[in-house]
Amino acid sequence: MSDQNDPRARHQDLVQQVEEHRARYYGDDAPTISDGEYDALERELRALEAEHPELAEPDSPTQTVGSARGETGFASVQHRERMMSLDNAFALEDVEAWLARVGKEAGEQTIVCEPKIDGLSISLTYEDGELVRGVTRGDGTTGEDVTANVLTIASIPRTLSGDHVPRIVEVRGEVFLPVAAFEELNARLLEAGKDPYANPRNTAAGSLRQKDPAVTASRPLDVTTYALGALEWGEAGPDPRADTQHGIYEVLAGWGLPVSAHVRTVTGIGAIEECLAWLEDNRHALVHEIDGAVLKVDDRGVQGELGFTSRAPRWAIAYKFPPEEVHTRLIAIEVGVGRTGRATPYGVMEPVTVAGSTVRQATLHNQDVVRAKGVLVGDTVVLRKAGDVIPEIVGPVVAARTGQEQEWVMPTDCPSCGTPLAEQKEGDKDLRCPNAQTCPAQLQGRVEHIGSRGALDIEVLGEVTAAALTRPAEPERPPLTNEAGLFDLTLEDLVPIKVVVRDSETGLPKLDDEGNAKMRAPFQRVEKTYPPGAEDMTPAERRSAGIRKDHEVIHPSANAFTLLDELEKAKTKDLWRVLVSLNMRHVGPVASRAVAAELGSMERIREADAETLAAIEGVGPIIAESIREWFEVPWHRDIVDAWAAAGVRMAEERDLSLERTLEGLTIVATGSLDGFTRDSVKEAIISRGGKAAGSVSKNTDYVVVGANAGSKAAKAEELGVPVLDEAAFVRLLEQGPPAAE
Ligand code: IVH
Repeated sequence: MSDQNDPRARHQDLVQQVEEHRARYYGDDAPTISDGEYDALERELRALEAEHPELAEPDSPTQTVGSARGETGFASVQHRERMMSLDNAFALEDVEAWLARVGKEAGEQTIVCEPKIDGLSISLTYEDGELVRGVTRGDGTTGEDVTANVLTIASIPRTLSGDHVPRIVEVRGEVFLPVAAFEELNARLLEAGKDPYANPRNTAAGSLRQKDPAVTASRPLDVTTYALGALEWGEAGPDPRADTQHGIYEVLAGWGLPVSAHVRTVTGIGAIEECLAWLEDNRHALVHEIDGAVLKVDDRGVQGELGFTSRAPRWAIAYKFPPEEVHTRLIAIEVGVGRTGRATPYGVMEPVTVAGSTVRQATLHNQDVVRAKGVLVGDTVVLRKAGDVIPEIVGPVVAARTGQEQEWVMPTDCPSCGTPLAEQKEGDKDLRCPNAQTCPAQLQGRVEHIGSRGALDIEVLGEVTAAALTRPAEPERPPLTNEAGLFDLTLEDLVPIKVVVRDSETGLPKLDDEGNAKMRAPFQRVEKTYPPGAEDMTPAERRSAGIRKDHEVIHPSANAFTLLDELEKAKTKDLWRVLVSLNMRHVGPVASRAVAAELGSMERIREADAETLAAIEGVGPIIAESIREWFEVPWHRDIVDAWAAAGVRMAEERDLSLERTLEGLTIVATGSLDGFTRDSVKEAIISRGGKAAGSVSKNTDYVVVGANAGSKAAKAEELGVPVLDEAAFVRLLEQGPPAAE
C-alpha cells in the first residue's frame, strides 16, 4: 500500500510496523518477526529520519523505548528515573567506533563486559531498604506495577542488607526464566498434551504479567541486576564503590541482590574482543539465554560526562551475537494464505533444534525470495535463528545435492479457494488471492482477528474456533461464509461442526493410527450410556469385555455456550474495538481509538471524507485513505449493517447529559490521580468536549499533574502552561475554566 519511494509514506509505514512489533515484544503476544528483522526495520527508520529530519517527531519510536500499553489491568507507575534502552553493535567495527567515541583514544577507557540477558527489564524500588515496588519498563517513562508478582521471585530480597542502604534506590535488572526450568516446563506441557511455549523470554514475560501471582509463583523466575536508576543515599552516605560500574555490582551484591557471575573489566579492543568471543562460545552454558554482550564504560564520572541520547546511554553499547546456523532437509514448500490474502510460501523441514527450540517450518516470504535463495525441494538447507523465535532458511548446501532435488514453482491458484493468484499492483513481489470476500483462508484469518486481544477480545475465538466457523470438515457447511453473520450464530449452527486437527507449526493435518485426519468437535459434549454394570468401567476395561455403548446423546459443549456469551458481551464493547475488528488495512488500535474518540459513531466514520479523517491526530493520509476505500466496498458495508442489526454498539457511549465544559481546550494529564485511571481521564476530557493530548506543547491549555509526574510537569512550567492538581481538574470538568483558575 505505501509507496516505497515516498519518504513520508514509507516513514508512516515503518513507524506502524515498529510499533506493532514492539507492542508484541513487550506485551504478551508472540513476536511474529525475528530480532534481526526487527533491528533492520528500526535501522531503516533511523536512516530515513537522519535523511529527513522533519519526519522525526518526538513520539517517533526512534525517540522512545519499549512500548506503552494501557488496559492490562496493572496500575501504571511512573519511573523516578527513565529506563533507557541500549544502542546496538552488530560487528566488531561498530564496537571499535563506539570505543573511539567514549575514550579520548581507543583503548584508554576501562570497559565492563557482561552478558546481555534475554529477559525483561524490571525496576525494583527500595525505600529505606524495603522493597516497595516492582515495575516493568513499559515505555521507559511509565511501566506496569507488578509488585505482587515480583514478590514471588525467590532471589529478590524484600530487605536490603549491609550498612550502606540508601533512602531510596531504583535497582534495574532483568527477569528471566532459567533455560533448564523452561525445558522442564515445556516437557510437562507436552506430556499433558498442551502446546509448548516458544522460548524462555516469552514465557518469563507471560509469567511476570500474570493477573494471578500464584501462577507467577509456580514459575521459577530469577533476576540479575545490572544498573541503578534514581538514588538518594540519605543518612547512610554514599558508598564510594559506586564510583565505578564494576563497583556498583559489588554494592548490589552487598545488598543481597543477584548480579552476573560473568562480568569482566577489560581495557583495549583486544581484551574486549576476547571477552565477546568467550561469551559467544559459552552462550548456551549460562543458566539464562543471552542474545549478546553489553559493554559499559567503567568510570561513572566519565559515564556522567558522556550522558544519554533520547533513548540510550552513550557510555554503553549492546553487541548482538550473529545468528546461529544448523542444517536440515527441506521436505516441501507449501503455500499459506493469511487474512490479507497474501500467499506465502513456507518451507516444511525435517525437525531440527536451533537456538534451543525445535523448528519444522520457516517462511520463504514470496516466490522471488525462493528463487533468490536458490533452494530446491529435497535440498539440505542452512537454517538460522537470530537467537529468538523466527527461523530463517538461509540457502542450500549445494555440495550435499544428490540430483534428486526438484525445482519448486509457485502455484497459480489460491490453495484455499482456487481463485487465480494475482499481484495487487504491478511490480508487487507478493501474490495475493483476490477473493477477499469468500476465500475460506482469508475469512478464517479475519474471524480470528476479530477475536484477538487488540480487537473485540473474545476469549474463545482463537485459531481453532475461527477454523471451525469458517472451514469445518465435510459434510458440514461453514456457519460463516463471511463475518457479517458472526453475531447471529446459534447453538444449532455450532453443535454439528467438526474440524481437522492441524499441527500448530506446519499447518498439516494430524493423522490418527489408521492414517485418517484427526477430527475435533469443539462445540459438542458427547454423553454415552452403557448397559447396567458397565457404567463405572474404564474405556479399556469395556473394550476388553467387548461392551459397547447403548447410545450417545450430543449436547452443546461449555465452549459453545462460552462463545455465544462472549459474542453477546462483545456487542457492547467500545466503538474503537469494533473498528479494529473490521480488518481495515493499517487500522490498528491506536488509529481506531483516535478515530472513534473524534467522530464518536460508525455512521460519522462512514460519512467522513479522507480529509476529515487525515486531520485526526494519530491518523495520517494512508490510514484515512484505507478507511475510505474500505467503506466503498458493498459487502464491507453489509458487515457493518448486519452487526448493527444484531445489536453491536456502533457509537461511543457518551453521557450526553454532561455539559461540554471543555469545548476547544487541549488538556494533558500526567502522573497518577486518585480518582481516575489513564483511560478514564481521557474519557472525562473527551466527553466534555475537550481534547486529551499526550504531550505538552504551546498549544496545551492545561496540564493536570498527579503523583510521580515526570518531565511533562516540568515542560508545562517551562512553557508557562497552567498546571492543575486533581481537585482543580475536577472543578474544571464540572464548571469549566473559571472555576479551575
Ligand atoms: S544496561 C542504562 N545491562 O537489554 C542502561 N541492560 O536492549 C540500561 N539488558 O533495556 C541497560 N542485559 O533490558 C543492561 N547486562 C545488561 C543487560 C541489559 C540485558 C537489557 C535491558 C535493556 C535492553 C536493551
